[in-house]
Amino acid sequence: MSCPDQAFARRVSRNSILGRPQVVTALLSINDDTHAIDVAADTPLLWALRENLNLPGTKYGCGIAQCGACTVHLDGKPIRACVTPVSACIGKRITTIEGLGTPDKPHPVQLAWADIGVPQCGYCQSGQIMSAAALLAEHPNPTDEQIDVAMAGNLCRCGTYNRIRAAIHKAAAIMAKRPAPT
Ligand code: FES
Ligand code: FES
Repeated sequence: MSCPDQAFARRVSRNSILGRPQVVTALLSINDDTHAIDVAADTPLLWALRENLNLPGTKYGCGIAQCGACTVHLDGKPIRACVTPVSACIGKRITTIEGLGTPDKPHPVQLAWADIGVPQCGYCQSGQIMSAAALLAEHPNPTDEQIDVAMAGNLCRCGTYNRIRAAIHKAAAIMAKRPAPT
């Protein structure tokens, strides 16, 4: 059995040879569900999330990987969905802000964000939260310097940076108090 990305590549190649539009059915694993969508192979993941899958929590800011508004996780790592083609996501685990936590069980970052009241206009915040969650998965008790490095690619026109840093420290404290998984 071929892996999903090989099958995807074969369909793209066949369409190309036959002069067909490069529209293919991609199977994507998003927030622990599998979704089949018909898209052009080079469609940015951001477009697929917002237009095909009705997941508008991930935002469009610059479209050129400069602002971080579109940050999601690919196999747990933060990526910019505006410059990541759907073809690069086949067979990988995508997590968006809609799948990070639930209303009943928010992620510690979401709890800390609400406690501290981080957002102002809110536009950049889903990207900020996704970057913060990825940082804490790697560094459960980050220093200010680690926070600044990890969050440097997420811009906030409202200047909420001090509250973001405070919320990341608070999220780390919340995580430290949680019982370890058995
Ligand atoms: S919209 Fe993707 S980094 Fe700005
Ligand atoms: S809260 Fe307005 S851009 Fe960040």
